[in-house]
Amino acid sequence: MRGLIAYAFFVYHRIAMSETHPIDALKALEAEAMAAVAAAEDEHALEDVRIRFLGRKDGRISAILRSLPTLSPDERPAVGQEANRVKQVVSAALDERGTALAAPKAAAGEDLTLPGRHPWKGGLHPITQAVDEIWEIFRDLGFTRARGPEADTEWYNFVALNTPLDHPAADEQDTLYLVDSVLLRSHTSPVQMRTMEKHEPPIRIIAPGWVYRRDTYDATHTPAFLQIEGLVVDEGITFIDFKATLAEFARRYWGPDTQVRFRPSFFPFTEPSAEVDVKRFIRHPDGSTEETDWLEIMGAGMVDPAVLDNAGYDSERYTGFAFGMGPGRIAKLKHHVDDLRTFFDNDVRFLRQFSK
Ligand code: PHE
Repeated sequence: MRGLIAYAFFVYHRIAMSETHPIDALKALEAEAMAAVAAAEDEHALEDVRIRFLGRKDGRISAILRSLPTLSPDERPAVGQEANRVKQVVSAALDERGTALAAPKAAAGEDLTLPGRHPWKGGLHPITQAVDEIWEIFRDLGFTRARGPEADTEWYNFVALNTPLDHPAADEQDTLYLVDSVLLRSHTSPVQMRTMEKHEPPIRIIAPGWVYRRDTYDATHTPAFLQIEGLVVDEGITFIDFKATLAEFARRYWGPDTQVRFRPSFFPFTEPSAEVDVKRFIRHPDGSTEETDWLEIMGAGMVDPAVLDNAGYDSERYTGFAFGMGPGRIAKLKHHVDDLRTFFDNDVRFLRQFSK
């Protein structure tokens, strides 16, 4: 209320004191506008000047034109004429200044008739998008996220996972050793052991991360790549939980009509082990449909009791399942990319087609 009274007083004071004739006020405004036009150093500043004086809503010259009906009939024509003249003079000056400011650019060879450029928005790498999408599905199924170190020991990478050091995977031919028994992890499975050491069951984790192998860089291999590990351990976890969870994931990721197949396989840390394949059912925009070949998407299995023992768990009481997949491979299958290297060459012209 006090604010309002003060404001009313302020307005009254302004009106009472402004004895300047409208024609004089317009002349002063013209001089002010012309000076501002001359002082504008670039197109943005010039646009500000235009809005300040000629803007339809708050422009000062426009305001005078709008207030003409409030003037007495004998004053109105002269003030109206003068206001229109000032408006024309100022807008001509704005145009002229605008051309002058653009001239150096045109002289420098810039084609001012080109369409505007779209702002560069950036986007997530297609493999990062795959990691996020996969993680979100498991999060909705009740999993939490875990992580472990990229440089790890032989114990976590192999021995604790029931893989003896004379296993070919542990060979220097395949694994990048740093010093003695310290290496760059060759899979994300060591996160299984690191999580079980720290937490009691129930365990339900997803662990995405970088892994390293002595592979040549070709269409299907890169020496550093991403993996996503999953581990579930609790009382009463069965093969049915294993199959149902992974089939549910596959259908949420690849679509409800996806078929899932579990092929017998071998991993030292799971028993039994399986390789999981999907067959996609694709509906094309033209109405036609397509069934893909079987595509392998992950290695998996029931956690070997020896691994639970190594973690200090009671393997009589607890059971579980584990899985590991490559989001790079999954992104490659999803986007029908045939050379994995195109994801890593970082040619923005290729990558930007995946940005959302
Ligand atoms: N670690 C295995 C690999 O890199 C994948 C895997 C994870 C298999 C968990 C079974 C269970 O090939």
